[in-house]
Amino acid sequence: MTLLVTGGAGFIGSNFVLDWFAQPGDAGAERIVNLDALTYAGNLRNLAALAGDARHVFVRGDIRDRALVDRLLAEHRPRAIVHFAAESHVDRSILGPAAFVQTNVEGTFTLLEAARVHLQSLALAERGAFRFLHVSTDEVYGSLAPGAPAFTEAHPFEPNSPYSASKAASDHLVRAWFHTYGLPVLTSNCSNNYGPYQFPEKLIPLMIVNALAGKPLPVYGDGLQVRDWLYVGDHCTALRAVLARGRPGETYNIGGWNEQPNIEIVRTLCALLDELRPGAAGSCVRLITHVKDRPGHDRRYAVDARKIERELGWRPAETFTTGIRKTVRWYLDHAAWVADVQSGAYRDWVAANYQSR
Ligand code: NAD
Ligand code: TYD
Repeated sequence: MTLLVTGGAGFIGSNFVLDWFAQPGDAGAERIVNLDALTYAGNLRNLAALAGDARHVFVRGDIRDRALVDRLLAEHRPRAIVHFAAESHVDRSILGPAAFVQTNVEGTFTLLEAARVHLQSLALAERGAFRFLHVSTDEVYGSLAPGAPAFTEAHPFEPNSPYSASKAASDHLVRAWFHTYGLPVLTSNCSNNYGPYQFPEKLIPLMIVNALAGKPLPVYGDGLQVRDWLYVGDHCTALRAVLARGRPGETYNIGGWNEQPNIEIVRTLCALLDELRPGAAGSCVRLITHVKDRPGHDRRYAVDARKIERELGWRPAETFTTGIRKTVRWYLDHAAWVADVQSGAYRDWVAANYQSR
């Protein structure tokens, strides 16, 4: 048995692949073909522990390359596609939206078309078991007013950034391929993830690496924007539950029941760093710097994850307190990984995003 994973060298994808093989027994024995273009966000060092492991087949390539996707499907005959590959950073989508439409919309379209043709080539029993799991985000739902009920799966799509609009478009394509062509799709809409291997352009790892370097901690606007945060390992267990037991055509919200304003997240990180790596210059709270806000910045996300709990029996295992401590420790223990991603393209990106703020 084989899975085709796209984007498995990125943050969540690499956690998913590593966690998949860590499962005991037959579950962890299943092969993964990992298709990833290795953009700035893809990092093979995340998968270093799998070097020489026959269960993992890495293929460098673009999900928009239809001939490549067709070849991989014909050669490996996966029982499922787990689709992570995307451009994923809102600030990048503001500075350069084209790549978001290309990968998130055209790339998903290419995979859906390839999967549709592939399905026809399968024997009836294989066809019944085949799944296309599309990994999406709560950002497709737009922004919530303070006190408004959390997003359910029935919430209308109201995306506000090029990133969320491109993900919403891909979610719509996935839905249509179910209703029109009967492709057995599953969609998950998850809140903000944090944990090991997250590229330090996103809030939590950026704050950790900047604090360690004694650099400013750039909080957008008043810092009172609210996000729901989920430990990446919990996202991976949720995705395994959706893949195993989700009903084709359904969407599942995934969240951590942990809404917090950004400024609180930054203060928590400072408290942990002050404890675990005290600096000679005093608390890193002194580094907090309010900078110009992000255009179209969504004020609040909150996820109602009762459907996945009720139907699939999933709940997060980590609390924010346990997950964030693990995460800070991971970054402290992996200075070489951080140094590696901070070279080259990452430096250029930091300059482009922050010099005009
Ligand atoms: P990431 O940016 O860390 O990784 C994306 C991966 O996709 C990289 O390895 C990159 O090389 C690869 N990729 C990009 N374009 C590609 C292309 N055209 N062809 C093949 N590979 C390509 O992203 P992430 O944070 O791991 O997010 C993974 C998925 O989960 C995305 O679809 C994202 O929308 C979704 N998601 C992320 C979060 C979050 O908080 N990070 C929350 C909910 C949902
Ligand atoms: P981010 O990690 O980019 O995720 P998303 O925009 O997809 O939710 O940002 C999380 C929140 O943190 C978001 O409200 C923007 C804010 N933020 C900052 O205040 N400063 C920063 O330097 C970054 C990267 C994000």
